[in-house]
Amino acid sequence: MANEEPWTPRSDRPSDSELWDRMAAWWDEKQGDDGDRWHRLLIEPGMERVLGHVSGLRVLEIACGNGRLSRRLAQRGARVLAIDASGEMIRYARERETLAPTGTDYRVGDAASLGSLADGSFDLVVAGMALMDIADAEGALRETGRALCNGGRFVASMIHPCFDTGEEHSCWVAERHAYETRLFRKVGRYRELFEHRAEWRVGDPSVPEQSFETPYYHRPLSWYFRALNAAGLAVTAFEEPEPTKQFLAESSQGPSLLEIPLHCVIEARKLRT
Ligand SMILES: C[S@@+](CC[C@H](N)C(=O)[O-])C[C@H]1O[C@@H](n2cnc3c(N)ncnc32)[C@H](O)[C@@H]1O
Repeated sequence: MANEEPWTPRSDRPSDSELWDRMAAWWDEKQGDDGDRWHRLLIEPGMERVLGHVSGLRVLEIACGNGRLSRRLAQRGARVLAIDASGEMIRYARERETLAPTGTDYRVGDAASLGSLADGSFDLVVAGMALMDIADAEGALRETGRALCNGGRFVASMIHPCFDTGEEHSCWVAERHAYETRLFRKVGRYRELFEHRAEWRVGDPSVPEQSFETPYYHRPLSWYFRALNAAGLAVTAFEEPEPTKQFLAESSQGPSLLEIPLHCVIEARKLRT
């Protein structure tokens, strides 16, 4: 099939969920209940606009991390089941749920294999900044399409595949012209499907145990549209979140992101069968 992915699991390295397990404590602390600056002030305001009202909806969050988004949706009246492949992420999500219950149900599970969930049993499936982290994203989208009821929605935020193909293959480039410095985004390997490691610097980068690596799977935008379509989902909204005023005030990357978005939000609706 046109969407065939080139990576195969290798036994000589930790599994994806083990790599996420290793950074779960740091991720939980970094995201807390409100999200870090990038999530709180850039990505999630755009995602919230697309999500709209969720009260009374049966919601499934795939790749929920520490469950921050799920809890927020539950507080707004949704009935939420949240899954993540990392047992450690789910442990932190449950800890937070115990401290401030919202009724969210957390389970360890692979988004590409949701066999225990009945067909058509959700009104909304969400994935916050996760599709590019899932090796079998095609399987995850297929399962999403199966789990959604007719007319149900899938809403996902993710790295913008057109402008961010990973640290090694895309970057900001500044050019000094006569009267101003202009900023451009340089992007390579866009059309390819490839796997690489995202590095998360936790503290002093020269101290090895102070950085984590997680797998990242680049696919072009057309790949996602095709995979959504194959899963019976039609794209109904596509947003490229702009930095909020507060983000602009707090982050040196703010002005660049006014020109070029590094994240996007996709809404797709299950076609009636
Ligand atoms: C960048 S984190 C995002 C977590 C959360 N959605 C958030 O916004 O904080 C990516 C998450 O995807 C999860 N993940 C990766 N592959 C997965 C899979 N196949 N099934 C379920 N979760 C997966 C990881 O364990 C990790 O928690």
